[in-house]
Amino acid sequence: MKQTEQWSSRLGFILSAAGSAVGLGAIWKFPYVAGVNGGGAFFFLFLVFTILFGLPLLLAEFVIGRHTQKNAIQSYKVIAPQTKWHLLGYLGLIANFIILSFYSVIGGWIILYIYKTVAGQLSGLTVEQYQTIFADTIADPFISLIAHLLFMLLTIVIVARGIQNGIERANKIMMPALFILFLLLIVRSLTLTNISEGLRFLFLPDFTKVTAETILAALGQALFTLSLGVSTMLTYSSYVPKSESLPRSALSIVSMNILIVILAGLAIFPAVFSFGLTPDAGPVLLFEVLPNVFSQLPLGMFFFFAFLILFLFAALTSALSMLEMIVSNLAKGSIILRKKWSWIIGIVIFIAGIPSALSFGVIEDWKLFGKTFFDLVDYLVSNMIMPIGALFISVFVPFKMRKDILIAELQSGGAFPRGLFKSWFFIIRFIVPAAILLILLNMLEIW
Ligand code: PFF
Repeated sequence: MKQTEQWSSRLGFILSAAGSAVGLGAIWKFPYVAGVNGGGAFFFLFLVFTILFGLPLLLAEFVIGRHTQKNAIQSYKVIAPQTKWHLLGYLGLIANFIILSFYSVIGGWIILYIYKTVAGQLSGLTVEQYQTIFADTIADPFISLIAHLLFMLLTIVIVARGIQNGIERANKIMMPALFILFLLLIVRSLTLTNISEGLRFLFLPDFTKVTAETILAALGQALFTLSLGVSTMLTYSSYVPKSESLPRSALSIVSMNILIVILAGLAIFPAVFSFGLTPDAGPVLLFEVLPNVFSQLPLGMFFFFAFLILFLFAALTSALSMLEMIVSNLAKGSIILRKKWSWIIGIVIFIAGIPSALSFGVIEDWKLFGKTFFDLVDYLVSNMIMPIGALFISVFVPFKMRKDILIAELQSGGAFPRGLFKSWFFIIRFIVPAAILLILLNMLEIW
């Protein structure tokens, strides 16, 4: 059955897909993963992977979804009937489930910080006090679980409302506001003293620091920030009318995403060094650094509050796409089933996320391969499931879909020159799978 719902406008689709892409990945995860992986070289690799693999892969997912106008599992079934390819849809389903379970924990942290800002608990502290207050907050099992629950409830309520009234409407307000506030934040960060060290850290690549691990992390990061390999973008494109140009939309989304990553880097790294902190603090980095930046601004806590609200929006708009990907496969176009499944799956995801929420307190010493439960699930999805999913999609599209269909989809709604098509086809068919395979095999050697 075809999707019964559609985006109301091109802007609605672009902002929603950009909303899925831009989220914790760009704002929270990129700075800390870059921080742990040596900065500039990681950033450089991330950019190369985003443009060379991310953009073509995004188009590949778009082509599948818009062509079939069905949910992910159905899409693979329709294009490759009586094969096992639809397992790729199930892989996406599981991946979205796992990502959302830990994503929501970080979303909860944002809610907690909004509360603390409003309650006046965050003004005028020292650098060390900001670190302690954050560590204490997330270590409290009760508080962090309530926050995680609140974030999931927000996600559920919006997804249950459907595409146009829920997801699209939320994105149209939240995404533009995010950009504006980021600009303000950067002006502040760049006018701190001693910013050159931070800028050098982010923009000057030191390739001696690159290891197989760095390369895989950069690939994982590129896929994660663009929500690729797990059929989420495929799902969103199934609601796109044939009158829209997919390549144009994909280009806007990738550009917006790169821009936000750069903005986040510019907001955070100069401040990290300027306050004498280190960039390798891990998942807590952003929450420890930014209050320092804002607390030194006139009306600092007001702006911090505004930033946190938009940060929450960015996280929410990505969370929506994950829950939507799962719900669309279960509801199969029925509005009533959409409501029911949004609630059921949302609550189950909350439960699945409990160990992740406790990873910063009660069970922080439970480690496997030196990683906490939280780090482990994040690693599993970003660095294994997403690359593997992307690998299979890059095989599926050129080998299972007819060339004339691909051309028609890419040209529908706008021009897509033949030469560009050939380059895209070549990259998706040979370069992307070969590169991902190499990167994964390279890692196997380390293990
Ligand atoms: N792209 C999102 C972010 O960077 O925060 C994360 C994400 C969303 C990953 C949706 C995967 C997904 F399907």
